[in-house]
Amino acid sequence: MLQKVVRSTVIDAPIARVWAVLRDFNSHDQWHDVVAESRIEGGERSDQVGCVRSFSLKDGNRIREQLLTLDDRQYKSTYCIVEATVPLLRYAATVTLKPVTDGNRTFWHWESTFATPPGREHELRDMVAQGVYEAGFANLRRHLQRGGDLRAPGQAAMPVAIALPTRRVRLQGYGDAAQLRMEDTEAPPPAPGEVRIRQRAIGLNFIDVYQRRGQIPAMLAPGGTPGMEAAGSVLNCGEGVHGFLPDERVAYLCPQPGAYTGVRNVPAQWLVRLPPAVDDEVAAALLLKGLTADALLHDVAPVRPGARWLVHAAAGALGQVLCQWASRLGAQVIGTVSTEAKARIARAHGCAQVLVTADYRFADAAQALGGADVIVDGLGKQAQQENLAALAPCGHWISLGQASGPLAPLDPDALLAKSATFSRPIVFAYVAEPQALGRRAARLWAALADGSIKTPTIERFTLESAAQAHERLESRERSGALVLIP
Ligand SMILES: NC(=O)c1ccc[n+]([C@@H]2O[C@H](COP(=O)([O-])OP(=O)(O)OC[C@H]3O[C@@H](n4cnc5c(N)ncnc54)[C@H](OP(=O)(O)O)[C@@H]3O)[C@@H](O)[C@H]2O)c1
Repeated sequence: MLQKVVRSTVIDAPIARVWAVLRDFNSHDQWHDVVAESRIEGGERSDQVGCVRSFSLKDGNRIREQLLTLDDRQYKSTYCIVEATVPLLRYAATVTLKPVTDGNRTFWHWESTFATPPGREHELRDMVAQGVYEAGFANLRRHLQRGGDLRAPGQAAMPVAIALPTRRVRLQGYGDAAQLRMEDTEAPPPAPGEVRIRQRAIGLNFIDVYQRRGQIPAMLAPGGTPGMEAAGSVLNCGEGVHGFLPDERVAYLCPQPGAYTGVRNVPAQWLVRLPPAVDDEVAAALLLKGLTADALLHDVAPVRPGARWLVHAAAGALGQVLCQWASRLGAQVIGTVSTEAKARIARAHGCAQVLVTADYRFADAAQALGGADVIVDGLGKQAQQENLAALAPCGHWISLGQASGPLAPLDPDALLAKSATFSRPIVFAYVAEPQALGRRAARLWAALADGSIKTPTIERFTLESAAQAHERLESRERSGALVLIP
């Protein structure tokens, strides 16, 4: 006989806030005490109907559940168990929210039907009713209180409508690192579609240097603030933003610079929620480079087992992530670096062979290894001719960046002799759709969790030391990633 459990409660928070949590099928490990850890399978979005969450309970049980329906207008979702180590058979559940008419409160109805092995009806009904539903009500209340949605008596919520004082790095004019200066500023309230973030770590990327030098004037004008990525916590959300709560830990990459600051407004479409295991500095060091690696390995040049990947600056921030992940996916990775010390780092990060060259001469050595099927080139100008010479027949030269200066115009006929391919991708195009961003970020965190990539080595600078951090980034004396701490 089918068992039925029905529970309901009233939560002292507006329906939009409660729904923002519950509509996220993978949020329960952040608020429900019985859940140890949870992930969405296959890199799907956690509000995608059909997605499967795979989670473990603190008592050691494992459960896989599928999201069957999600209705943002009715505030209703249904889901079922597809596999579990607890004997809840044919379990299907419905969550429904309704606004309470007097005040900003929410009525939450949670019900399910399921079968059990004979004799265990009572025990399992109690487990669902008390251990899952009643405990869940209490845990979500506490979660919302911690996020500031529910105000304890006398406690002030973060006002949405006021500007907040902060500090930012201003680019005085194009040129060297001394053009980066600190100044006081204000972060205005988030506009519709934006989230205001208290930043805790800001990732540095070589593109910040190109912008500072004036090599990409369309991206950053003098007077502006550099920086493409950061991690921190949500302060508040502009109109029309769903799915983020105050105090939630998030990270972003964004094609509009402006990250070198303490508080920043970012369009919600570029944000990802951070898993508990990924701290702010790691997220800021890894997100943009990791998603770039993901796009290269899975889309720009999907890895074929045994393919020879020649990766320049293999001990650099992107290089370390890319070489490990490419090698784990079956590529034979050949790295180039400028010193023996960096060669040791590159070998420890997935390179089967390392070519040590400070003067961009590597083609003969690469040809001696059979030629490169794929070249990942962040060097640009100084390596242009060597890259052509290093390619294997039908090879693919991916021009990602220009650390040694911009490429000279490329004659298409230069590719003809080897029937080669040339591409010039940029990561933002590969995460412009929120679904793609969610899928790639989930794959990146999973690669970090399963050891495909190690936690990056990180050098820290204060936000005030942004100029020194840029000098360090350009120096060729370092390896790994740099972050600024506001
Ligand atoms: N298109 C995209 O979406 C995308 C995304 C991420 C990164 N990138 C590109 O990928 C490359 C790596 O970026 P990253 O941020 O991870 O930097 P990085 O690799 O940590 O630093 C750049 C490295 O380039 C090498 N280099 C060679 N010539 C140089 C020169 N003249 N000046 C300075 N460095 C030189 C250095 O390594 P050695 O001393 O070992 O040669 C240096 O460590 C950059 O070109 C960047 O623009 C592109």
